[in-house]
Amino acid sequence: MILVIGATGNVGRHVVPLLLESGAAVRALVRDPGNARLPEGVEAVRGDLTRPETVEAALDGVESVFLVWPGFAAEQAAPVVKLIAGHARRVVYLSAMAAADMFHGEVERLIRESGLEWTFLRPGGFAVNTLMWAGQIREGVVRWPYALAGRSLIHERDIAAVAALALTGDGHAGKAYDLTGPSVVTQAEQVRIIGEAIGRPARYEELPREAAREQLLAAWGEATFVDSALDYWASIVAEPEPVTRTVEELTGVPARTFHQWAADHADDFR
Ligand SMILES: NC(=O)c1ccc[n+]([C@@H]2O[C@H](COP(=O)([O-])OP(=O)(O)OC[C@H]3O[C@@H](n4cnc5c(N)ncnc54)[C@H](OP(=O)(O)O)[C@@H]3O)[C@@H](O)[C@H]2O)c1
Repeated sequence: MILVIGATGNVGRHVVPLLLESGAAVRALVRDPGNARLPEGVEAVRGDLTRPETVEAALDGVESVFLVWPGFAAEQAAPVVKLIAGHARRVVYLSAMAAADMFHGEVERLIRESGLEWTFLRPGGFAVNTLMWAGQIREGVVRWPYALAGRSLIHERDIAAVAALALTGDGHAGKAYDLTGPSVVTQAEQVRIIGEAIGRPARYEELPREAAREQLLAAWGEATFVDSALDYWASIVAEPEPVTRTVEELTGVPARTFHQWAADHADDFR
């Protein structure tokens, strides 16, 4: 039995069918089983990660766990990791390439010290983040800073493919996988590619940093978060994000391109 936590999320929703295809018995921990829309054959168990006492029932008889820790404080993960270690043998944790800078580093530490057999998936930016442009794409112009920021965005299905391998196969214990898309695509190119995929041209209009800062402050609220995002995009104009071949090395097929991602999500932008 494999328990998928975050089974309704970008990555988890693709992990579930891959596990079913492999013949595994799959259970999902969800906050709202009625709305989870899981594939047939998956057992949905109600639980909330912020209330560890509600998580234990889902762990009965579980051997492996796919764990997403969706942005809560890392300290809150301690009792959940302890519970998982009390029932399961193995955990595959959806971390992040920038693990050390975020709460993910602390969750990784808790897992390392738990006695569980672990695999850490450390993706860079998700291609799915570009859905934040959907409204602007519909209007044909994306006004955003740092057109030439070069990103190696990853398709969520590739993260899920690696997760499924790590959950069902051998040889992944104690491994931390840096996962990216197959090439660097600038933000301006991303917009052009999405426009192509939906059959309606979209162009990128460079937004000066100060104007972008104001816009993002209104949308995101937190100034430190906005400033670090802006600094980060500025930095990857000069030095684009790294590209790893880990997806291909593990799955045997090249990581999906941003073109493929945009084609898969064309309807989300229309
Ligand atoms: N976006 C990026 O560029 C990026 C890059 C690297 C790493 N990551 C990491 O990837 C993770 C997010 O993965 P994702 O995009 O697949 O997830 P997502 O689409 O954000 O979905 C979050 C999942 O967590 C579940 N969840 C939320 N709160 C919960 C709670 N209190 N109890 C139980 N389940 C809860 C949600 O279920 P319901 O809402 O259905 O209950 C949903 O299945 C984050 O940890 C993020 O830091 C993201």
